[in-house]
Amino acid sequence: MKTSGNTILLTGGGSGIGRELARRWHDAGNVVIVTGRTISSLQDTASGCEHIYARQLDVTDPDAIRAFATSIVEEFPALNVLVNNAGIMPLEDVSQPRDLARSEACVTTNLLGPIRMTDALLAHLKGQADAAIVNVSSGLAFVPLVRAAVYSATKAAVHSWSESLRFALDGAVEVIELAPPAVQTELTPGQSTREGYMPLEDFIDEVMSLFAQQPTPPLIGVGRLGFLRNAEIEGRYDQTFAMLNGPQH
Ligand SMILES: NC(=O)c1ccc[n+]([C@@H]2O[C@H](COP(=O)([O-])OP(=O)(O)OC[C@H]3O[C@@H](n4cnc5c(N)ncnc54)[C@H](OP(=O)(O)O)[C@@H]3O)[C@@H](O)[C@H]2O)c1
Repeated sequence: MKTSGNTILLTGGGSGIGRELARRWHDAGNVVIVTGRTISSLQDTASGCEHIYARQLDVTDPDAIRAFATSIVEEFPALNVLVNNAGIMPLEDVSQPRDLARSEACVTTNLLGPIRMTDALLAHLKGQADAAIVNVSSGLAFVPLVRAAVYSATKAAVHSWSESLRFALDGAVEVIELAPPAVQTELTPGQSTREGYMPLEDFIDEVMSLFAQQPTPPLIGVGRLGFLRNAEIEGRYDQTFAMLNGPQH
């Protein structure tokens, strides 16, 4: 992926990782369109940045995605990068029957959202030079957090889907997976100040240095990701699973 001169569409750009990526990419000389459900947050992201544009889009709405894809390509014909970043992380007890509304919203947002966004923009991206898709997965794709079982499963699916997409689009669209470890954002309540989680600025600094490498690594994984990413290949999966999830009760 080029480091400057892109026109980037980034979902979930009103807070956290998406907001900081949008600002860094903007400052590096890219046009960035940020989307999300809350227009005021998106406008905060764009504030003071001449080439960040705020547009409302709920990625759980397939009709809205189709209509948005058509209009955004008309408005920004140079669009060449899609970043599927929007996500939610419900904590839940999967050992009990429960109202599945939040689990279902998690699958729709985290998995169907990126699949639908990609499908809606694929024909356009394939016609662009230097086209790329960045899918944001998670360290929990590699070792699940039981309290966020459905979330972890969606991220494992995003990882798997990204591997297939990279192969299928080889030579036409570069497919990059960005797998954050635990980072201080408000993805779950109170997480932005939780000790032991990676400070957002440090995370973004390391991510941007990885994006600066040419060619771009297919998996953008900061050093801290290794704890989960490499657990299986380093023969410490069970131990890592137990550390993450605590003793069984
Ligand atoms: N922080 C971490 O520890 C961590 C670790 C691994 C992976 N990740 C992943 O990183 C990505 C960004 O998360 P974050 O940590 O930056 O959390 P965040 O600050 O909560 O960002 C998530 C963004 O997604 C947007 N969003 C949620 N539902 C949406 C929908 N239906 N349509 C459109 N936008 C929607 C939210 O905006 P609105 O609510 O205004 O729509 C919000 O701006 C997520 O995919 C997350 O799973 C984060």
